[in-house]
Parts: sequence; C-alpha cells; structure tokens
Amino acid sequence: MLKLTDVHVDYGHVHALRGISLTVNDGKIVSLLGGNGAGKSTTLKMISRLIQPKKGRYEINGKSMLRDSPSKVVKKGIIHCPENRRVFPLFTVEENLMIGAYSRKDKTIKKDMEKVFTYFPRLKERLHQKAGTLSGGEQQMLAIGRSLMGNPKVLLLDEPSLGIAPILVKEIFEIIKTINKDGTSILLVEQNAHMALEISDYAYVLENGHIALEGESKDLKDNDEVRRLYLGG
Ligand SMILES: Nc1ncnc2c1ncn2[C@@H]1O[C@H](COP(=O)(O)OP(=O)(O)OP(=O)(O)O)[C@@H](O)[C@H]1O
Ligand SMILES: [Mg+2]
Repeated sequence: MLKLTDVHVDYGHVHALRGISLTVNDGKIVSLLGGNGAGKSTTLKMISRLIQPKKGRYEINGKSMLRDSPSKVVKKGIIHCPENRRVFPLFTVEENLMIGAYSRKDKTIKKDMEKVFTYFPRLKERLHQKAGTLSGGEQQMLAIGRSLMGNPKVLLLDEPSLGIAPILVKEIFEIIKTINKDGTSILLVEQNAHMALEISDYAYVLENGHIALEGESKDLKDNDEVRRLYLGG
C-alpha cells in the first residue's frame, strides 16, 4: 500500500501541493484527475522521490520513504512513466526496453520483455527501429513497456492518453486494465476523466494543489460537479 499524508510541495514561492493525502491500495487502479497545473505530475514526481516535500508523510506498507533515493524507490517497485512519453529517440525499441530493466539483475528480463510484447505486439515488430521514428502512439506504448521492464508493483502513469488518437486511447486504457489484472497497482494521472473513471476503482480530483473531491470512481461518474467540470456536462 502506498500512502501520502498531508504532503506539501513548493517550487520557490509556487505552492504546487497544499496538503495532499491519498492511498493506493494493492491491486487497485486509482485515478488522479484535474486540470492543467493542478499538481498531478508534481504528485507523481514526489512519489518517485524526484522532489522533496516541504512537509508531509510518504509511506509504502507503513514504512517511510522520505529518506530513500529515487533508485531505491525504483527497486521497491514504484515505477514512474513520465508525461510526454519520454523515450530515448536514438536508441532502438529493444534498447529502450532494456534501459527500463537497468535496476535489475535477475534472469527473468527476457521473459518480461516477451510479456511486454503480449501487451504491445507492435513493439516486437519494431524491435530494431529507432524510438524517435515511432509514431506518437507507438512511443507511448514503448514508454509504458519500458516502465513494465522495471517489474513494477505500483505503476505511476502520467497522462498515457495525451495526444493520442481516440481509437488508440481506448486500446491503451484496455491494456492498462490488463496490466492491473496481471497484478500491478496503478496510479493513473489523466485529463481524460471519462476513460480514467471507467477503468479505475477510486479517484481523486486535484484542484490548485489540494484534493477537491474523492470517492469510488463509479460514484464520481455520477457526481454533478465532476460531470460539469470534467466530463463535459
Ligand atoms: N520546476 C518547477 N518550477 C516552478 N514551478 C513549477 C515547476 N514544476 C511545476 N511547477 C508549477 O507547479 C504547479 C503544478 O504543476 P504540475 O506539473 O504538477 O501540474 P499538472 O497537474 O501535472 O498539470 P498538466 O495537466 O498541465 O500536466 C503549476 O502551477 C506549475 O507551473
Ligand atoms: Mg502534468
């Protein structure tokens, strides 16, 4: 279980997070929704220890993570797939996937790569293609695939649907659901509230660095405020 309690983050005089508390229970998909600048990416960066909070608690299975380095967090199975599908453009698909396994020494790496290909067969077809020449959607698949190579217990996904054609968005959300069914908890940052609420168990709505609303996803879908602000009426 991953748990944040009253987390505050400042960038200089910008108060990006103003007391966030959230929980990702094992085996669940949890959505973090909200408009531009609400603090969604900041929350994920804080969880992967790229940013130190000014105040607050961050625990995994009851143990504080605030003294752990980003690589220690990765070793604990908290893997961050950042926004804007950051792949290494000059490296091939295969090399990008191998980079995702950098923190591991175990012998199941090849097997895990085959598993990634079951989610994203396209990546296998493009194995030796340079990542920079993939389409946007394929790069997103590669970014997620690379994160899976880190063998995540909790996958932090930052806007996997951004800039992707609607038909592919549906496919990517289906795959996220399958990844979760196969045993990975997911914290899903999305502006596509409709799809996110469709596949998640629980959701938080961030506004201006605080949690404005939270609840079971199926209840939030029917919430008037969520419908008006995030689901287009
Ligand atoms: N490195 C930084 N320095 C200063 N301010 C920052 C920095 N990174 C983020 N911010 C500010 O913190 C606030 C939250 O940013 P964040 O990236 O977390 O938002 P977001 O919810 O992910 O938005 P989006 O949906 O646009 O990606 C914004 O006001 C942003 O301008
Ligand atoms: Mg963001």
